[in-house]
Amino acid sequence: MKTTAAFKQMKEKKEPIVMLTAYDAPSAAAAEGGGADVILVGDSLGMVVLGYESTVPVTMDDMVHHTKAVRRGAKDTFVITDMPFMTYHGDISETISHARRLMQEASAHAVKLEGGGEVIDHIARLVSGGVPVAAHLGLTPQSVGVLGGYKVQGKDKAEREALLTDAARAEKAGASMLVVELIPESLGKELANMLTIPVIGIGAGRYTDGQVLVYHDILRYGAANVPKFVQVYADLNETIQTAVCSFTDDVKTGSFPAAEHVFQPLEPKDNEDGK
Ligand code: KIV
Ligand code: NA
Repeated sequence: MKTTAAFKQMKEKKEPIVMLTAYDAPSAAAAEGGGADVILVGDSLGMVVLGYESTVPVTMDDMVHHTKAVRRGAKDTFVITDMPFMTYHGDISETISHARRLMQEASAHAVKLEGGGEVIDHIARLVSGGVPVAAHLGLTPQSVGVLGGYKVQGKDKAEREALLTDAARAEKAGASMLVVELIPESLGKELANMLTIPVIGIGAGRYTDGQVLVYHDILRYGAANVPKFVQVYADLNETIQTAVCSFTDDVKTGSFPAAEHVFQPLEPKDNEDGK
C-alpha cells in the first residue's frame, strides 16, 4: 500500500498520482483493481449514492458506514475520508473526536477537511495527534450556499492570493496533501510548484501532481450530465437501463425464467423403488 511518503516521492519524480472516489466495497475493489493510488470516500456520496442535492446533509454516521465498506473492498489502498459538513468548525475537541471515529471505527488512513482560515488550526491539531490530513481548497462544496453555486474559484487576483496563502498555511500546518477543485489551470500549476506536498486537482488543469474524479462521473452512473472537467469512460446508465428493461420485458412476456433457471425435484431412481 502506498502511503503519504510514497505520494510525496511520486510528486518529486513527477509521477502522476491517481485518486478516485469510492463509496462501497465493489467501487473500492474497482478502484484498487484499476490501479488507483489512493481512494477518497468523498462526501459526494450524498449526491451520487444517497440522492441529496448537495453534500451538506451528509453525516458522520454516513461517512463511517461507507468508509467501512470501502476498506473491506480495497484492503491494499490508502483511503482518505471526508469530514462532513460542520464537523470541524467547533471546539477542537469535537473535531478530534470526529476524526478519531473515522480513523478507529471506520479504519480510514487519513481525513480531508475543506477550507482555509480557521480550519487550518484544526488541521494542525489533527496532525499533531497523528492523523494524516488532506486539505481541500478552491471550490469547497460544503460551502456552496456561501459561495453562491458551483463556480470556478481563484479567478481574480484577491481570490488567487487568498488561495495561495491558505495552501501555504495548510502545508505548514502539516497537511500531507492538498486537493484543489475548480480553479484556473495556471493557479493549479502555481500551487503544485509552490508546495512540497502533492496537489491533487479536480477541474484544476493539467499541471497538478495528480488528478481526482468521482467514480460515478467517469462511469456516467446516476446523474445524466457531468461537469466539463470530467472525462466519461463508460456509460453505465445506458447499460443498466437496457438490462433492466430486458428483465422486465422477459418476465412480462414469459421468456424468463427459462428451462435453465428452474429446479426440479429428485427423480425417484428405479432400483431404489425395488423394481
Ligand atoms: O467528495 C468528493 O468526492 C470530493 C472530491 C470531488 C475531491 O471531495
Ligand atoms: Na468532498
